[in-house]
Amino acid sequence: MALRQRLSAALLDHAEPLLHRAYGGRKQVMFADLPDTVLEIGPGPGANLRYYRPGTRLVAVEPSEPARRRLERRARRRRVDLDLHDLAGEGLPFADRSHDVVVCTLVLCSVDDPERVLAEARRVLRPGGRFLFCEHVVAREGTPTRRLQSWLRSPWHWLTEGCHLDRPTGELIAAAGFSGLERHDFCLGPAAGPARPHVWGTAVR
Ligand SMILES: C[S@@+](CC[C@H](N)C(=O)[O-])C[C@H]1O[C@@H](n2cnc3c(N)ncnc32)[C@H](O)[C@@H]1O
Repeated sequence: MALRQRLSAALLDHAEPLLHRAYGGRKQVMFADLPDTVLEIGPGPGANLRYYRPGTRLVAVEPSEPARRRLERRARRRRVDLDLHDLAGEGLPFADRSHDVVVCTLVLCSVDDPERVLAEARRVLRPGGRFLFCEHVVAREGTPTRRLQSWLRSPWHWLTEGCHLDRPTGELIAAAGFSGLERHDFCLGPAAGPARPHVWGTAVR
């Protein structure tokens, strides 16, 4: 477990430029108008740090120790003021209605209980606060990608430390009780393998 966690954090860290190439255009839109303090669930080694203004206060919950260490280093380089918690998103230690923005990218596939994480994100947002997401989701039934997701489900889950290829995350977000939802669907090229298609957007409390 510890070795897989270290490998996974290192891989994500080194993949940061690739993630930027794949998602950067959409993230630049998504992160265009952020407040001074942002709450991020599962930031890993910090793929989103480049989109935060220097001086941003980033409150983050990240259960992986190797990812936290890498996140701390990257945050120092990016001059992001990090308030980091060794916790999972299923139990946020923050008051109701205490945040303006919650960010979740490529995380709801990996958490144990995505519905619980979404409920927590909604709980800590102020009315009008925004939940920003970018996630890979289950492919349409009957497509080659859907078949690939079924075949690779278990080995992928093991290799990636708990990532579910076949989560209907777009539908889970839609059912999470937000008052507004702007959802965009997209599909990366074949290099993304079974970890596609995707949804990104904003849900408003
Ligand atoms: C695939 S990585 C994505 C990292 C980053 N958000 C990104 O966009 O590159 C998934 C991250 O979610 C974290 N994670 C897993 N379960 C979690 C949970 N229950 N609550 C919060 N984070 C979790 C993992 O430790 C890992 O850092």
